[in-house]
Amino acid sequence: MAHTVMEHVRDVLVMLAQVLYYWLVAIVRAILPASIQGKDISGETVLITGAETASICKGYGVSVDTYTINLCDREAIYKLADKTVKAFLPDMMTRNHGHIVNIASSAGLIGVTGLADYCASKFAAVGFDESLRFELMAQGKTGINTTVVCPFFINTGMFEGAKTRFPFLLPILEPAYVADKIVEAVLCNQTLLALPRILYVFFAIKGFIPSTSGYLLSKYLGAHNLMDEFKGRQKAE
Ligand SMILES: *[C@@H]1O[C@H](CO)[C@@H](O)[C@H](O)[C@H]1NC(C)=O
Ligand SMILES: *[C@@H]1O[C@H](CO)[C@@H](O)[C@H](O)[C@H]1NC(C)=O
Repeated sequence: MAHTVMEHVRDVLVMLAQVLYYWLVAIVRAILPASIQGKDISGETVLITGAETASICKGYGVSVDTYTINLCDREAIYKLADKTVKAFLPDMMTRNHGHIVNIASSAGLIGVTGLADYCASKFAAVGFDESLRFELMAQGKTGINTTVVCPFFINTGMFEGAKTRFPFLLPILEPAYVADKIVEAVLCNQTLLALPRILYVFFAIKGFIPSTSGYLLSKYLGAHNLMDEFKGRQKAE
């Protein structure tokens, strides 16, 4: 069917109006405190996945299942997949209800020297979350929400020894603080949670400065020496 020029113009205007509308809604909701806008999640299925999740959830009085996996074992990977999003999503979709939280990292949106393998897995988690959300929207499953969590380093022991040059700008985060913020984000259907908040600025800047400038900026912030004194998780005594 050939569109007339008028129809094209109308489509563009409608699309722009919607983009603007949701933008304004997002700004208002970013300002309103969680206590005002939070949804009721009693009886709701909230699936939280991610490597450091168990440490974050500890002390929250919730039940946590952890799995260790050999990534060279294809069978094991498929078996484990049956316990994660794959296991929960079909039921969520039937009920058009639920919330999926993917724990990624600031290293899931910005590359860091010395962390190529870690960044690869975190970029994957960010992409998974966004694609899943768009797929759900496209299928009209608007009752299900996803949140991707992109914190700077968390004090869980995984990054023992990692140094940050400007701790007032980019502090190493405490697990309890991150857990509180994740709960707020879930209650408010927030799609991306970056901690500390200054990361939103860095993510935005990254989109329009050249790569070399991005390199210099993150070098200045110490992101390239982060891992110099990295020790990693210490064996329990
Ligand atoms: C998430 O929540 C909002 C309501 O705040 C809704 O409009 C949106 O479509 C929901 N679902 C997805 C998949 O984003
Ligand atoms: C979050 O999304 C759910 C499902 O779309 C909706 O029922 C609820 O009102 C939303 N809450 C907020 C705070 O956006």
